[in-house]
Amino acid sequence: MELLARAQALDAAGVDVVHMEVGEPDFPAPAPILDAARRAIDGGATRYTAASGLPELREALSALYADRYGCDVAPERILVTAGASGALLLATAMVVESGDNLLMTDPGYPCNRHFLQTLGAEGRLIPVAPEDDYQLNESLVREYWDERTRGVLLASPANPTGALIRERVLEGIITEVDARSGFLLMDEIYHQLTFGELAPRSVVSQTDGAFVIGSFSKYFGMTGFRLGWLVVPDGAESEALKLAQNLFICASTLAQHAALAAFEPAAHAIMEAQRATLRERRDYLVPALTDAGFAVPRMPEGAFYVYAGLPAGHSAEAFCNNALDTHHVSVTPGTDFGFHRADGHIRITYAESRDRLEQGVARLAEALR
Ligand SMILES: Cc1ncc(COP(=O)(O)O)c(C=O)c1O
Repeated sequence: MELLARAQALDAAGVDVVHMEVGEPDFPAPAPILDAARRAIDGGATRYTAASGLPELREALSALYADRYGCDVAPERILVTAGASGALLLATAMVVESGDNLLMTDPGYPCNRHFLQTLGAEGRLIPVAPEDDYQLNESLVREYWDERTRGVLLASPANPTGALIRERVLEGIITEVDARSGFLLMDEIYHQLTFGELAPRSVVSQTDGAFVIGSFSKYFGMTGFRLGWLVVPDGAESEALKLAQNLFICASTLAQHAALAAFEPAAHAIMEAQRATLRERRDYLVPALTDAGFAVPRMPEGAFYVYAGLPAGHSAEAFCNNALDTHHVSVTPGTDFGFHRADGHIRITYAESRDRLEQGVARLAEALR
């Protein structure tokens, strides 16, 4: 965010900066969603909704799990939230007490450990390697689980690595968590942004016992609407609702009405075309970065990030500062995402057009030289 602010200050001063730092798609929300938002304003949808969200939106999300994954997730288990951020805060608040910890990857999405800190708990960060798809596995869970551990918080695809977790690896983790009567929190906010032939299955197809976090921010291109959802385990509905009522009252009413249009075929077609564009960008970017001297040992399988290693001797923070100040390309240092070999990595977002990405890579290559 600090880098982004500096990059934006350079933009304002008329400098041509290539932005490869932000965690949001460059596409606007699809037109049917924007039209629905306008209709909602005109229709006066300005009051609170139920804390759990508009019933028709919860139905639509339940249908998403049925259609996409063939899974039965009752609408009663789905709470509409203020982004995945709201869902993560709710879920973490439900499972930890002060002094507890959750296991999570290093590198990983940094806000998660900060949510836990706010609750007096902590993220127990586990260094992960490209050979493990930058994900946890059952032996790491066994090794790091201590007397204060309450569960595991994972993301697939993950930020900053774009890494998916394999189904059988997740199966092993579920077994370990269940054996300890722990909790599994699964962040699937990039789940529809994957680039393989087969769409990965949601964790809901493996267990009814996980907290599953979803969002309208990324695939649906609705970052600024602030809308997401939380699937809670069977039996946890009323506890989740009580907490949601107290913390948030409800998610944005306008955003919820707008999101209903996200399930229309016209919106779906736009989002699928955007996914194809992101895939093309990834397929260009990864070899181009490798040619320029960055290390990308795993092809990212989803989201819109590449987590790239710098050659030995470079510090990510110094590199990012110099890349921005001297070469006018903005990327994020690995130190934003954790500690493990973090200063040897940068995160590069491909939420820019192909032309701009090519300029960005050329500037990064210069910065490396
Ligand atoms: C892994 C992950 N989880 C959650 C979020 C928060 O997203 P939202 O905009 O839905 O609050 C982000 C945002 O970048 C993210 O990368």
